[in-house]
Amino acid sequence: MIDVKFLPEKLRKAQVIVVIDVLRATTTMVTAIANGCKYIKPVETLEKARKFKGEFLICGERDGIKPRDFDCGNSPLEYTNVKGEKLILTTTNGTKTLKKVEKLSNNIILGAFVNFTATLNFLQNFSDILFVCAGNNGEISFEDIQVAGAFVHGLSNKMLSDSALVSMYMWEGLKKPNFFGVHAKKLKSLHFDKDLDFAKKLDLYDIVVEYKYGKVKAR
Ligand code: MLT
Repeated sequence: MIDVKFLPEKLRKAQVIVVIDVLRATTTMVTAIANGCKYIKPVETLEKARKFKGEFLICGERDGIKPRDFDCGNSPLEYTNVKGEKLILTTTNGTKTLKKVEKLSNNIILGAFVNFTATLNFLQNFSDILFVCAGNNGEISFEDIQVAGAFVHGLSNKMLSDSALVSMYMWEGLKKPNFFGVHAKKLKSLHFDKDLDFAKKLDLYDIVVEYKYGKVKAR
């Protein structure tokens, strides 16, 4: 079954789980890995992240903003020069969702538009795929569901759940990324317009990115 959770709740085991937080955590992580970052260790809290200071670059956001003592925030544009680096990342929804699903599948994949086709090609090999949208502080995210819908559209020869159908028809109505949900508006108000443009870009990278044994890395 191809299934979509609009929020990271009532989760189940699946052959593959695809975590989506297109604005911005999964876009940022895919970008960092594509630019040669060794791996990313997602953690839930700022305090946990700070414990790794010195050994890792300490990265993330709260309320969209980089904590003052962190090395980098959560803008994908900050991760073009990270070759050989190891990152700790903590974000409001995205990294928490990765931690939530970590015991539910042997194949946990990050979903974004920037490496869309590479990921879709990988997913064609499976019949039981659960897309988990990170959402926005417990509310659904218009942008995450678009990414899920775009994937479902490419997998529509398989058995689809009702939530997969809803996502797919929403995507087919839009036909291209349209970022004007609540979180997109908030990022705009924080002057992250360039992050929105970047996260909409299709297939900048030809990699599949996975989360395994506590690390995000290229598959
Ligand atoms: C999150 O994890 O909630 C987001 O990536 C927030 C953000 O846009 O920085």
